[in-house]
Amino acid sequence: MKLHIVVLAGDGIGPEVTAEAERVLGTVAATHGHNFEFEHQLIGAAAIEESGSPLPRATLDACLASNAVLLGAVGAPRFDNLPPNERPEAGLLLLRRALGGYANLRPAISYDAIKEASPLRSEIAAGADILIVRELLGGLYYGEPRGFSGTNGDLSAKNTMRYSVAEVERVARVAFSAATNRRGKVTSVDKANVLEASQLWRQTVTRVARDYPNVYLEHMYVDACAMQLLTSPKRFDVILTENLFGDILSDEAAVITGSLGMLASATIGGQVGLYEPVHGSAPDIAGRGIANPFGAIASAAMLLRYSCGLEQEADEIEEAIRIVLKEGYRTLDINSGGSTYLARTAEIGEAVCDAIAEIADRRHAYHAV
Ligand code: IPM
Ligand code: MG
Repeated sequence: MKLHIVVLAGDGIGPEVTAEAERVLGTVAATHGHNFEFEHQLIGAAAIEESGSPLPRATLDACLASNAVLLGAVGAPRFDNLPPNERPEAGLLLLRRALGGYANLRPAISYDAIKEASPLRSEIAAGADILIVRELLGGLYYGEPRGFSGTNGDLSAKNTMRYSVAEVERVARVAFSAATNRRGKVTSVDKANVLEASQLWRQTVTRVARDYPNVYLEHMYVDACAMQLLTSPKRFDVILTENLFGDILSDEAAVITGSLGMLASATIGGQVGLYEPVHGSAPDIAGRGIANPFGAIASAAMLLRYSCGLEQEADEIEEAIRIVLKEGYRTLDINSGGSTYLARTAEIGEAVCDAIAEIADRRHAYHAV
C-alpha cells in the first residue's frame, strides 16, 4: 500500500516524539512491503515564527491532500499572552475543523508492565481499559457567540456550549459501534441536571442507543464520572462525552496508565484522519531527548488502523509497545522507581522497531512451515 502521510511535528517535544513514530512507521512499511511517504509541514508556534500564522495555507493544503496526518504537539509559553485566535493552539483547532473529524478516540489502558507507574493502587487500576470518545468539533470550543465585550471597568467574556441533534447523533454512533467490538457498554457523560445542551445530548444518545440493542447504555454526570474514573476505572468500557468534558476527563484518565505520555488519539469521521498523542508540548523537557514517545507511537498504530485499514500492522505496533515495556524501557514519567536506567526517546523508538522486526520474522517463519 502506498500512503502519503503529513507530519506536523509542532512545538516542544513534538518533533522528538513524532520522529520516533515516523521511524516506527518506516519499519512497518519495510516489514510489510508498503510505501509510506512523509511530508513535513509547520503548525503552532513553529509556524507563527516562520509565517505569522499558526496554520499556514501550505500546511492545510498538504493535510487535505494527504491520506492521514500525524501531529506532535502545539503550544509554547512565549505565546501565552496572545488572544485565543492567535495562539499556537488556534492552529490545531482550525486544522481539526478543516479536516472535519468529529470523533476523537482516546484509549486509556493500564499496561501490566507499568502498572506501578500509576499513583492509583494496583487493585484499582490494573486491568482497566477505557476508550474515551470525545466530540471534537462542537461545544464551548467552537460555539458562537464568543469573545470579550465591554471596556476596562466593565469587561466581560463569553463562550457558548451549543450542540445540534445531528452533531450528537454522529459521534454517538461512533461510540456505540466501538462498544460493539469491545465489552458492549457505553457511559454517556453530561451535566443534564444543569445544562440544556446536556439534556439534548442525553435525549439524543438515548434514542441512538435503540439502534444498538447489544450495547448497554448508562448516563453519568460529569462530576460523578471524574470521581469514578479514579475510584473504579474498571467499571468503564466506552465513555462518550462532549468536547470540553472529554478534554478534561482524558487527561484524568491518563492517571490510570501512569502518564499522559502514554496516551494516543485518533480523530475520525472527517475527510482526513488526524492522529496525535494526548500530551502537550512539555516545554520544560523539550529538546533533551528524554520525552516519552509511546503516545506518539501508539497514535501511529491508530493511523494505520483507522485511516488505512491496516489492522494487522496496527496490532503489531501495539504488541511491540507491550514488549518494549515488558523489557523494562522507561522514561522518567513512567519510572516507578524500579528501573535504574532511563531510556532516551530515540532508544525507545529503536526498541519498538526491533520488536516489530522480530514480530515480522516470527510471521515469516510461521508462513514458511
Ligand atoms: C487536547 C489539547 C487541546 C484541546 C489543546 C492543545 C487545544 O488539550 O488535545 O486535549 O484542548 O483539545
Ligand atoms: Mg487536553
